[in-house]
Amino acid sequence: MLHIKDLSFSYEIGKQKYTVFKNINLTVFDEEFFCIIGPSGCGKSTLLKVLAGFETPSSGKIFENEKLIDSVSYERAMVFQEDAVFPWLSVKENIEYGLKVRKVPLEIRKKIVDEYLELVGLKGFENAYPRQLSGGMRKRVDLGRVLANDPKILLMDEPFGALDAMTKENLQMKLIEIWEISKKMVIFITHDVEEALFLGDRIAVMHHIKSGGDFKIFDVPFQRPRELYLKEEIDFQHMRRDLIEEFRKAEERNCNFSQEVLPL
Ligand SMILES: Nc1ncnc2c1ncn2[C@@H]1O[C@H](COP(=O)(O)OP(=O)(O)OP(=O)(O)O)[C@@H](O)[C@H]1O
Ligand SMILES: [Mg+2]
Repeated sequence: MLHIKDLSFSYEIGKQKYTVFKNINLTVFDEEFFCIIGPSGCGKSTLLKVLAGFETPSSGKIFENEKLIDSVSYERAMVFQEDAVFPWLSVKENIEYGLKVRKVPLEIRKKIVDEYLELVGLKGFENAYPRQLSGGMRKRVDLGRVLANDPKILLMDEPFGALDAMTKENLQMKLIEIWEISKKMVIFITHDVEEALFLGDRIAVMHHIKSGGDFKIFDVPFQRPRELYLKEEIDFQHMRRDLIEEFRKAEERNCNFSQEVLPL
């Protein structure tokens, strides 16, 4: 379980302090697929970077079960919107990279790489270089690269944002297929309400600090396995409408909250 307690993040420019988000409290469960949506600039990526340990919160704490999280660990892997594959390494070498860094013995490495090549559907492309692959395939290399390290928590920041609709749906299905097998905790950020509804067990709508900074959580009632036609169903459409309404409330407004900008 991941416990986020009173988490706030601010940064300073010159003599002013800007608050990105404030007092977020949240528990994400093992094996849960947790989505976060919210308007541009509300701090989604910053929150994920804090969870990954790339950024230090201004206040508050994060616990994985009882353990305080205060540094980077391969147990919390991040998938970025941009490709994070190494262009000079082949598909196989990209997937192997983290294992090599962790000095996993060659024989075991080979076995794991093979397993993940299969899982992300890139068998036959193991010796190709990223420039020889489509955007969707590169994203699958990225997934393989991250999953091969067997992280406990997968932090995904709009991973399919730059892909066309068909490729995106294929990857959504692939991700769910992998998640059903591995049952890792996934925290998934997206701009796309439909994507969150299709993938998530719960969805948080993160409000911009300038519209109050709420963090409103919705349960997604749709049973699994979910098929793509779920998106056409009336319940899905209704929930989509409710989320879009909440999303609109979450957008930046011109009311200046006193905590947003403070002189140092
Ligand atoms: N260390 C920092 N220094 C300066 N500004 C920062 C820092 N960290 C975050 N910010 C600012 O915090 C705000 C939130 O950024 P963030 O990237 O988290 O938003 P986001 O919700 O992911 O937006 P998008 O949907 O566009 O990706 C932005 O205004 C950004 O410039
Ligand atoms: Mg972002």
